[in-house]
Amino acid sequence: MSKVAQYQLDEYYYHYPAVASVVTSHADGKNNAMAVAWHTAISRKSPIYGVAISPKRFTHGLIVASGEFVVNFVPWEKRELVAKVGGCSGSEVEKFLAFGIVTASGKVVQAPVLADAYAAYECRVMERRAMGDHDLFMGSIVALHWDKEALSKDSMLDPGQAHPVLYLGGDYYATAKGNVLLDRAALAKGTAGPMR
Ligand SMILES: Cc1cc2nc3c(=O)[nH]c(=O)nc-3n(C[C@H](O)[C@H](O)[C@H](O)COP(=O)(O)O)c2cc1C
Repeated sequence: MSKVAQYQLDEYYYHYPAVASVVTSHADGKNNAMAVAWHTAISRKSPIYGVAISPKRFTHGLIVASGEFVVNFVPWEKRELVAKVGGCSGSEVEKFLAFGIVTASGKVVQAPVLADAYAAYECRVMERRAMGDHDLFMGSIVALHWDKEALSKDSMLDPGQAHPVLYLGGDYYATAKGNVLLDRAALAKGTAGPMR
């Protein structure tokens, strides 16, 4: 190993890959979608989810106006959609029309849920904090959507069934397929094997 320490940084992407999600929003009769890799769970009870969005994004204004957003987790088959919605602005492109995005109505919020998502969190903004060049929107999860077939019996993503979109930075993506699940009992016995 040949490690480098750096104290001046313009960019830092060494924590990638990160699951790329599609954040949808709605305000003033307009729907929008953007790619978001900077997102995280913040609290389990109460369920709170955070997304870091630059004020430069068209989405930013829609979330501020509506106080709502949806985080959609789409499968590998939809990676081009992630790149497309992450590659242009809703201020110029009607993305749902341009990219033929199929939606389902949100149960609680106005922002659309993507029909192709294997999971989605409908969120209502609790707080917005300016953090450097991004704003962190912290949202209370008010509805949860998930595809039974994409999840294992333990409610974990089954990479044999649904392949997440992993963002590597730039225009690069990867996925995880058919990984091996380690559980404590199997680990102890040395028999850890495939999920199903
Ligand atoms: C895979 C991927 C992940 C991205 N993650 C973020 C992010 O976490 N936060 C952010 O502000 N922009 C992120 N972007 C950039 C926005 O998706 C991009 O600027 C988009 O065009 C904004 O759309 P809008 O102006 O319609 O909101 C990402 C782009 C890509 C391709």
